[in-house]
Amino acid sequence: MTEMLLIENLSSGYHGTPAIEQVSLRVEAGSVFALLGANGAGKSTLLKCIAGLMPAYSGRIVYKGKDVTSETARTLVRNGISYVPEGRAIVTSLSVDENLLLGGLHVERAKVRERRELVLELFPEIRERLTSPAWQLSGGQQQMLAIGRALMSGPELLLLDEPSLGLSPLLVKRVFNQLHELQKQFALTVVLVEQNYRLTLKVAQAASFMRNGRIVGHHNAADLRTPEAYQNIISAYFGSPSEGATAEAAVSH
Ligand SMILES: Nc1ncnc2c1ncn2[C@@H]1O[C@H](COP(=O)(O)OP(=O)(O)OP(=O)(O)O)[C@@H](O)[C@H]1O
Ligand SMILES: [Mg+2]
Repeated sequence: MTEMLLIENLSSGYHGTPAIEQVSLRVEAGSVFALLGANGAGKSTLLKCIAGLMPAYSGRIVYKGKDVTSETARTLVRNGISYVPEGRAIVTSLSVDENLLLGGLHVERAKVRERRELVLELFPEIRERLTSPAWQLSGGQQQMLAIGRALMSGPELLLLDEPSLGLSPLLVKRVFNQLHELQKQFALTVVLVEQNYRLTLKVAQAASFMRNGRIVGHHNAADLRTPEAYQNIISAYFGSPSEGATAEAAVSH
């Protein structure tokens, strides 16, 4: 497998205050790589850095073998990095179809038609609602639209920030199933930020755990379900392993 993304000792933050520190990770091409961790761990900050929306204080980001640490978000989108922010940033006043077309703005027409068709095959629910204003969609449909829009630019690397946020368990399952499907169909590499670790571990080939802005553990698919991985999950979410008893109860549903 070749490497799609390499992050080395990356630090960044807000107004000079660090939110992520010395983060290093490696994402193989064609894989789903999960970033897990509690609220405020720095997951979204890391995704925003990869998407070029936040500057690095230090460290570097290498995408497809090229140092892109200082590239703009616009350039990164053109080079195949697509970012779906937390909270489904779709334009609610526009129609579903207009949202999709917005995602393919700088793409040639024939490709736009082709990708739009692929997206609609993947998410048949939104095909039925193409002319509706996006605000009329349910939460799950809005999430599908947000992902669909990101796919319109023909990404090679998709950055997904908490696609399960606010969705019912049934819809979360569907979105994750579709994620699996689109990984196959689009040969995508995905960096997936999630709180829903159970579902995440089903689709991810590797996972890193973040706590207080740092990576505190990493596991590949083969050992994601081992006791050690489980301890990492607990410590990433809840602190020391001694808090595990409560943590186990908290994560078991
Ligand atoms: N716009 C901002 N301005 C200042 N500080 C911020 C901003 N956004 C996030 N932070 C801080 O940076 C740290 C990391 O936040 P981040 O949003 O990356 O966490 P997260 O892991 O995505 O959390 P969540 O699971 O709640 O989305 C937190 O301490 C947070 O308070
Ligand atoms: Mg976040």
